[in-house]
Amino acid sequence: MKIALIGYGKMGKTIERIARERGHEIVSIIDVNNLADFDSDSFKSADVAIEFTVPQVALSNYRRAFASGVAVVSGTTGWTDELPALKKEIEEGGKTLFWSSNFSLGVNIFMAVNKYLAKIMNQFPNYNVEMTEVHHTQKLDAPSGTAITLAEGILENLDRKNSWVKEVETKQGEMAIKSIREGQVPGIHTIRYESEVDSIEITHDAKSREGFALGAVVAAEFTAGKKGLLGMEDMLKF
Ligand SMILES: NC(=O)c1ccc[n+]([C@@H]2O[C@H](COP(=O)([O-])OP(=O)(O)OC[C@H]3O[C@@H](n4cnc5c(N)ncnc54)[C@H](O)[C@@H]3O)[C@@H](O)[C@H]2O)c1
Repeated sequence: MKIALIGYGKMGKTIERIARERGHEIVSIIDVNNLADFDSDSFKSADVAIEFTVPQVALSNYRRAFASGVAVVSGTTGWTDELPALKKEIEEGGKTLFWSSNFSLGVNIFMAVNKYLAKIMNQFPNYNVEMTEVHHTQKLDAPSGTAITLAEGILENLDRKNSWVKEVETKQGEMAIKSIREGQVPGIHTIRYESEVDSIEITHDAKSREGFALGAVVAAEFTAGKKGLLGMEDMLKF
């Protein structure tokens, strides 16, 4: 498959290596200094572009790739308030975007377990729930996109929670997400249910960026030839 990369930072470089290992050709690499390459023939020849940049430019990158007729797989987080409007634009325009806040297979298993646990805990109101996420100090957004997706999984299934808040709950119905930034941590997410007599905790601890990068390349293989707004649930079908 012909793959273009948009964003050549930590994720872009890891994706390049894994994509080549899986036999794909990298036809174009775009970063801040060569944005004109969106209009190049080599970029237009890509089956899929894989985009990992910064939240401020993600949407304009998708639109530039769509204008060149290239489908996009993206993991850039921190812009999802705009997702409903973008979904409409993609569906009406016949475009293709595969987006996930987290491409790791392990995290997606964890997300499924999180939803199932929340459903069970609906019957046990004496437990309160909170989340902690830990990431490296260069991470720009807090809470992480993965933490927000996990929180949405809890809110959908646990009737006594109706919104998530940063750090501390102040009202009934809120669920706190605590964010810690330290060292080189690729990403730890912990969900803890606590009662007076015990606690139940589930944790996903990423060991490196490899899992995210591999998931993004597999998503690119899945995306080629498809239309619409796609996500991990379309690919994994748990
Ligand atoms: N979904 C996932 O599984 C997952 C996993 C890891 C990281 N992320 C997210 O991916 C994004 C990138 O992460 P990273 O660790 O590679 O960051 P990074 O800072 O190492 O790299 C970002 C790159 O984007 C480039 N860039 C900035 N503006 C650009 C533009 N207009 N066009 C093209 N390139 C541009 C920067 O120059 C840099 O090379 C972040 O939002 C991060 O939260 C998602």
